[in-house]
Amino acid sequence: MNALPVGENLDWQQLLEAAEAAARATAGQGRVADYIPALAEADPEAFGMAVATVDGELYGVGDWERPFSIQSVSKLFTLALALAHGGDTVWRGVGREPSGNPFNSLVQLETEHGIPRNPFINAGALVVTDRLQSLTGDAAGAVRAFLRRESGNPGLDTDPAVAASEAAHGHRNAALAHFIASHGNLENPVETVLDHYYAHCAIAASCRDLVLAGSFLARYGLRTDGTRMMTRSEAKRVNAVLLTCGTYDAAGEFAFRVGLPGKSGVGGGVLAILPGRAAVCAWGPRLDQAGNSVAAVTALDTLTTLSGLSVF
Ligand code: DON
Repeated sequence: MNALPVGENLDWQQLLEAAEAAARATAGQGRVADYIPALAEADPEAFGMAVATVDGELYGVGDWERPFSIQSVSKLFTLALALAHGGDTVWRGVGREPSGNPFNSLVQLETEHGIPRNPFINAGALVVTDRLQSLTGDAAGAVRAFLRRESGNPGLDTDPAVAASEAAHGHRNAALAHFIASHGNLENPVETVLDHYYAHCAIAASCRDLVLAGSFLARYGLRTDGTRMMTRSEAKRVNAVLLTCGTYDAAGEFAFRVGLPGKSGVGGGVLAILPGRAAVCAWGPRLDQAGNSVAAVTALDTLTTLSGLSVF
């Protein structure tokens, strides 16, 4: 691959087109998630990618304006909102070490006394959702309101069919939540926490919506209107946890290939941050063994490799 110039003359549209070509070349690789039956209806060949720069420029290719189920990408926003409302208290109930285990694993919770390893595995996200519920009275509503405001898309919403499908097949998440509750690490009833967790995972949003909503991390904590959501130090911490834990037991491989903080979801989206520069989101529903999109990771790998942009 020939390197494109890094700096003021960066051609984002050209970079996105090159990333899309590389992603489309992975056609047929990976499998669409079906453990939540409603997700199996996604178009396996869909692909979209978008960039929002800190200067307010927006670029996109492919299906970049087509909504998909954001799933665990929502966990970036639940953590950020919980920190914005509750500060460091959030870290009393959840760690910040990579788990080295699949996102829905139960094994570490027993030896670690109901304190999940990090906020992005399902166990940790349930604790963060619980704290956001205590802090706002409506955890999923707080995530939707933030995404709507930052993306300027008032129609952005939870897909009720996906949320219902998650709940109907949610034995593992229910087991995690009950186990955490048995250790006294939930403040709200298990049913409330699960309802809000499913409701924020089942939000449908596009790459366009997600880059705009995620760009506060590229702006070191400033929202799109320039107001401060969190301190610069908190934004650094969220980015650090995204880098080490955002793609689960593939976080090492993601850092190696892409070199950016990022959050994946089983709907096939990956939202990544170039601190000080831009938010980038890629989407393709086919997943690898760890639950990360084959096309999206390939696209992000291509973008950072061609441009030389990364946090390293
Ligand atoms: O709880 C679940 O299993 C899903 N709602 C979210 C999992 C997910 O997206 C993991 N990410 N790669």
